[in-house]
Amino acid sequence: MSQVLLAPSLLSADWAQLADAVAIAEEGADWIHLDVMDGQFVPNLTFGPVIARAVRKLTRLPIDAHLMIHDPLAFVPAFREAGVDRMTVHVEARGVCGPGWAAPIRSHGEGGAAGDGGPAPTEAHAIDLDRLRRTLAAVRKSGAGVGLALRPDTMLSEVEAVLGEVDLVLPMSVYPGFSGQEFRPEALLQIRYAAAWRERNQPRYLIQADGGVAADTIAAIAAAGAEVFVSGHGVYRQPDPRAALQDLRRRAEAARRTP
Ligand code: DX5
Ligand code: ZN
Repeated sequence: MSQVLLAPSLLSADWAQLADAVAIAEEGADWIHLDVMDGQFVPNLTFGPVIARAVRKLTRLPIDAHLMIHDPLAFVPAFREAGVDRMTVHVEARGVCGPGWAAPIRSHGEGGAAGDGGPAPTEAHAIDLDRLRRTLAAVRKSGAGVGLALRPDTMLSEVEAVLGEVDLVLPMSVYPGFSGQEFRPEALLQIRYAAAWRERNQPRYLIQADGGVAADTIAAIAAAGAEVFVSGHGVYRQPDPRAALQDLRRRAEAARRTP
């Protein structure tokens, strides 16, 4: 697979100029990434279907919703109705993996809760695979593309059983909740793992990178095997966001061509 898909994250945009931010994406990107947060799964609160619908009116680009919420099942129909094309759920969300997930939810970043790098891996993870499958099936049934996201402390090997059922895999490179955090290089291992697993088993998912994706990190991420690149600060907090998008694409394409 040699494609490069850019998905700028509106979280870093100037929301007073939403139409401009969307126009920038229309000119130089492939998808629009919407970060949906419930203040529970992550210590930050953003928006719901009403805003997704407003973005839908502004663009024909596919809308890629990253659901950082505990109960995605409750909102899948509303997001779909609002015109969202893809929904990515977190395996660690209570409504997705069941109550067995014991790791504390923490995040750090601009204005965020204090943290020393994320959850301590003290408790065993227990994923309710049936429940996870039901969530993925509900997204599929809605007509949206199905994505599965993992926090940096969740290993892809834990969800191998469902990798054949998704269109997109997102091993996060920051703890979700805030834009502007530093890229965690251990995500490269997970991206390589996702690429190798795909090579061996031939499922059809795309590999997405999200968190600290910018001019200085995108080449390594692309070389590891990702093809969908979410970027917030790397686009909207740059002096010229249009030029930043072009630069990101050039760097990613060059890195993917290099064997
Ligand atoms: C973080 C979000 C990201 C965020 C990326 O929880 O999922 O999509 O907006 O922002 P940057 O690229 O600035 O890390
Ligand atoms: Zn995101």
